[in-house]
Amino acid sequence: MEDVIPLLEIEDLSVEVEERQVLFSVNLAIGAGETHVLLGPNGSGKTTLLNTIMGLPAYRVTSGRILFGGTDITPMPIDERAKLGIGMAFQRPPAVRGVKLRQLIHVAGDGGGMEERLSGLVRNLDLDRLMDRDVNMGFSGGETKRSEMAQLLAQAPAITLFDEPESGVDLDNIAVVGEAMNALLKPGTVAERKGAGLIVTHTGHILEYVNADVGHVLLNGKLACQGNPLDLLEEIGRSGYQKCVECALCDQ
Ligand SMILES: Nc1ncnc2c1ncn2[C@@H]1O[C@H](COP(=O)(O)OP(=O)(O)OP(=O)(O)O)[C@@H](O)[C@H]1O
Ligand SMILES: [Mg+2]
Repeated sequence: MEDVIPLLEIEDLSVEVEERQVLFSVNLAIGAGETHVLLGPNGSGKTTLLNTIMGLPAYRVTSGRILFGGTDITPMPIDERAKLGIGMAFQRPPAVRGVKLRQLIHVAGDGGGMEERLSGLVRNLDLDRLMDRDVNMGFSGGETKRSEMAQLLAQAPAITLFDEPESGVDLDNIAVVGEAMNALLKPGTVAERKGAGLIVTHTGHILEYVNADVGHVLLNGKLACQGNPLDLLEEIGRSGYQKCVECALCDQ
């Protein structure tokens, strides 16, 4: 049988931030249309992994490489990665003074009629009052997340990296964020294809709204365990992260 190339392939990736090694020989493959979940304690390197995939400049790859659709993107700047189809919902999205949300959504959507295409979703995201304000300037936690989701829906990435999408968001907003994530991850809503995802979550609440195929646990910058996401969360809830390494659910 012919080998299928994964959409995103991380090979033996080691990363330094501010001269300190944070990730150690990480291997991870995400197929087209698959949703993976990344779990791990505070400071274990989850955001670092997502930022490195997105190509943020502070994250220095010291070994290994990142392939997207079989192409080595390790040396590529962030904007080229975005154009190729990688999108990210940041844990703490920055405010952008002087740029209106409407302008950013227009640019993210490459000028292409996002509001008509996604009118129902935009309405649900309740963005009317935010569209003509500077991006994220003084936005509440929930408004910031909703504005990020709108930018991503306009971009319609082939893979979206979600860094704690439920953090700082109340229950009503989690449902709205979950709906936007599903639109990005299900076929036909924002593009013909089904988008892939990598979701960092501490609580797993978002998994009440979004289905995930595979879960991974990152401990001290190393991937320690892989398995069914809900089983992993249940085990972590019961025994804590350190038990992950030995737990029976590990299949690697
Ligand atoms: N830009 C940066 N400058 C300096 N140190 C950094 C930077 N980014 C990450 N680090 C360090 O790398 C380590 C891992 O941080 P990271 O944010 O990736 O963890 P995390 O798993 O996302 O944690 P949390 O669950 O708290 O969000 C931390 O010690 C952090 O201080
Ligand atoms: Mg983080």
